[in-house]
Amino acid sequence: MEKVYYHKPIMVKEVIEYLNLREGSRVLDCTCGEGGHSYEIAKVLNGKGILICNDKDRDLIKIASERLKEFKNVYFINEGFENIDRISVESGIDEFDAILVDLGMSMYHIANKRKGFSFDSEYPLTMTYAKADKVKYTAYEVVNTFPKKELIEIIFKYGEEPMARKIANIICEYRKKKRIETPKELADLIKEGIGRYYRTKVHPATKTFLALRIFVNEEYEVIERFLSKVGNFMAPGGRLCILTFHSGEDRIVKKHMLQLAKEGHFRIVTPKPIIPSREEVKNNPSSRSAKLRVYEKV
Ligand SMILES: C[S@@+](CC[C@H](N)C(=O)[O-])C[C@H]1O[C@@H](n2cnc3c(N)ncnc32)[C@H](O)[C@@H]1O
Repeated sequence: MEKVYYHKPIMVKEVIEYLNLREGSRVLDCTCGEGGHSYEIAKVLNGKGILICNDKDRDLIKIASERLKEFKNVYFINEGFENIDRISVESGIDEFDAILVDLGMSMYHIANKRKGFSFDSEYPLTMTYAKADKVKYTAYEVVNTFPKKELIEIIFKYGEEPMARKIANIICEYRKKKRIETPKELADLIKEGIGRYYRTKVHPATKTFLALRIFVNEEYEVIERFLSKVGNFMAPGGRLCILTFHSGEDRIVKKHMLQLAKEGHFRIVTPKPIIPSREEVKNNPSSRSAKLRVYEKV
């Protein structure tokens, strides 16, 4: 029986086109997940180049390596992509010709309740891509121990949630009685507290969950760290494709890369980001907020 994957890769045709793959290309997929994009890249390379598939989540590396086992010259690394220097050493590749970063989480993380990212998960409230002991704070520690002021800041800054103060109040009142153990407990608590203000189908805890995920995995710092060194690991003319999914991360990419372009390190290939077609959004609603930005190493 054919294996079913949870995550549908986004804007595959556009990503393949902008990566500008050639015979012999040395390609790095920084966040391969279940290997959706990597599979398409490997098909194009057809054994005549090298593909390095990286992901922070070891479980996903296992899935992707099984999915891509038919291809030659595909290698797997389990590293934070911000450590591109280590990826370069481990792979033995000094300069890549094409690099893809598909930010955020995979639908696998939502489907796999143990990861603690989904509203109905009754597993521990971790929300980490790597093992929970690899992060400074898990989501459990944030919601159960952080002072109210910091909770408000996190939910507002990373989730852009206008009701951050109200949500932090609800959390702090609740935890006086008992600790919040699971994502479901947190999601139900927020829904009960602010659900009446929500007129859309979106779960009222969406922005709070996004904020916790970004904070726990230090997602903004990771992007900054990666962008500040990626140019050192790209061949002249090499392409960098970055897929973002919300305004916070897109702003960081746009601003940082504009600066690198001004300094003459990169050419901006897509002055306006590429967005998915209407048809793609219809077939895969989770692509609706995606933006693809492309840069070329000078
Ligand atoms: C949107 S998914 C990628 C999906 C993939 N392109 C596909 O087609 O299946 C994002 C992936 O980034 C990984 N990730 C998140 N932060 C990371 C980091 N700092 N370093 C490496 N991988 C990371 C997640 O584990 C997740 O698998």
